[in-house]
Amino acid sequence: MKIAVIGTGYVGLVSGTCFAEWGHEVVCVDKNSDKIAGLKKGRLPIYEPDLDKMVARNHAAGRLSFTCDLVAAVTNAQVVFIAVGTPSRPGQGDADLSFVYMAAREMAPFLAEGAIVAVKSTVPVGTGDAVEKIIAHIRPYGSFSVASNPEFLREGVAIGDFLQPDRVVIGIEDGRARAVMAALYEGSLGATPLVFTDRRTSELIKYASNAFLATKITFINELADLCEKVGSNVGELALGIGLDRRIGTRFLNAGPGYGGSCFPKDTLALLRTAQDYGVVLRIVEETIVANEARKRKMALKVIEAVGGDVDGLTVAVLGLTFKPDTDDMREAPSVPLIETLQRYGAVVRAYDPVGTENAARLLEEVTLLDDPYECVRDADAVVVMTEWDSIRRIDLSRLRRLVRAPVLIDLRNAFEPGAASAAGFHVSVIGHRSDHSERADFMAEEPDFEKTRAGLSRLTRG
Ligand code: UDX
Repeated sequence: MKIAVIGTGYVGLVSGTCFAEWGHEVVCVDKNSDKIAGLKKGRLPIYEPDLDKMVARNHAAGRLSFTCDLVAAVTNAQVVFIAVGTPSRPGQGDADLSFVYMAAREMAPFLAEGAIVAVKSTVPVGTGDAVEKIIAHIRPYGSFSVASNPEFLREGVAIGDFLQPDRVVIGIEDGRARAVMAALYEGSLGATPLVFTDRRTSELIKYASNAFLATKITFINELADLCEKVGSNVGELALGIGLDRRIGTRFLNAGPGYGGSCFPKDTLALLRTAQDYGVVLRIVEETIVANEARKRKMALKVIEAVGGDVDGLTVAVLGLTFKPDTDDMREAPSVPLIETLQRYGAVVRAYDPVGTENAARLLEEVTLLDDPYECVRDADAVVVMTEWDSIRRIDLSRLRRLVRAPVLIDLRNAFEPGAASAAGFHVSVIGHRSDHSERADFMAEEPDFEKTRAGLSRLTRG
C-alpha cells in the first residue's frame, strides 16, 4: 500500500518505518529541511533503540523515503497519516492543534481520489470532524475519508509496541475506508484485535488509556508512601495485587512520579476537554495534583537521607531522562528534584548515558557527565533517578570507594534489595522502610497540595 506520513517526530518516524518494515511503500514528510536531510543520511532526530538500523534497512530497500515535498508525497498515497505534534498550549492546558489543521489544509487539494486521512497525533474529541470539514471545504467534490488511529507507543520500546501491539484502535465512519484500514494492519498483525469504533470514541480512547495508566502509577506511588510508614514492601504489594488479572502486574512500579511527553500533557488535555463539556473528572484531577507534588517531594527525601540539610553538599544524580532508553527530558522528575536541591544549597553533578545534551538545555549549574563513577566522586549523596541498565549494573563496591559519604537514595528501586547496604551504603528506597527513617529530625517543608491544585485549576480553566 502507498502511505504518506506527515511529521517525522517520534510517532511519525516510528510508524512510517514500521509500515515500511511490513512491506508498504512509505514517504515521510517534514517541513524541517535539516531533519529531512539528516534522515536521508541515516541521522535520526530522536533516540530510539534499533530505529536507526530499521530506517537504514528500509531506506536502502527503497520502501522508505524522506521529503519536504508534501504535495508529491500526498498525491499518490492511499492513506495519509497525520503525525504532527500537538503540544500543550502554554497557560491553557489544552492541545495546540494548529499543526494538525495546517497539514489538513495543505494536503487537501492534492489528495488522491478515495484517500484516507488517518490522524495518529493525539488529538481531542472532535478533531477528526474538524479535519473532515477543512478538507471538504477545500475540495467539495473529491471523495475522501478521515479516520482516527491513535498510537500507544512507549518511548524506548516503540518498535515492539508498533509491531506487536495489544490492540489497534481505528475510528472510522465508512465501510470502504474501514476495509482499507483493516487490510493495512491485518496482513501483518495476525490475531491482534482491531478495535473498530466511531471517530470520537477512538479519539477519547487514547486519552482515557493514558489517564488510566497515569492513575495506576499514582495509586502505587501513594501506596509506596504508606508502605514506608507502616513497614510494608511496595514491590511485593504490587505483585500481590497485580496477579489478580483484573488489576494486572504491569505499570505498578513505584517511583519518583511519571514524566514524559504524554502522560502529563494528555491528562491535562483530557481534564480541559471534560471542563469544556461541564464534566468533572475528579480522579484525573487528583492524579495530576498528586504526581506534581510527588516530583517535588522526592528532593525532600534526599534532604532527609543526608540528615536534614544539603546546603554545601555535593549530590550525584544517576539518570536524568524521564525513563530509560530515551534521550527525552520532557517533564522528567529529575528536573524539579535537581532544582529543589539546588535551592536548598546543594551542588549537583549528574550522569546520564544519552540524555545530557537535552538536559543541558533545561538545567543550570549542573556538571553533566557521561561516566557514572566520575559522577559520584566525592559525593555526599547519590540519587538514582532513572533505571538505565548502565546504572543497574553499577559496581556498588567501587561506587562506595569513590563517594565521600555512603548515602544512596534509590528512587527507582534499581538495585537488588540489600546489595547497596552490603556494599556499605545507608540506603533509602521507594516503598519500604529505609535505613534513614529515624535519622533526621526533618525540617524541610512538605509540598503544598492546595497550591498545586490552585495552579492546576488556573491552567485548565484558562
Ligand atoms: C506513554 C504510554 O505508555 C504510551 O502508551 C503512550 O502512547 C505514550 O505515553 P511513554 O511516555 O513513552 O508512553 O512512557 P511510559 O513507559 O508509559 O512511562 C511514562 C512514565 O511513567 C515514566 O516516567 C515512567 O518512569 C513512569 N512509570 C511507568 C512508572 O513510574 N511506573 C511504572 O510502572 C510505569
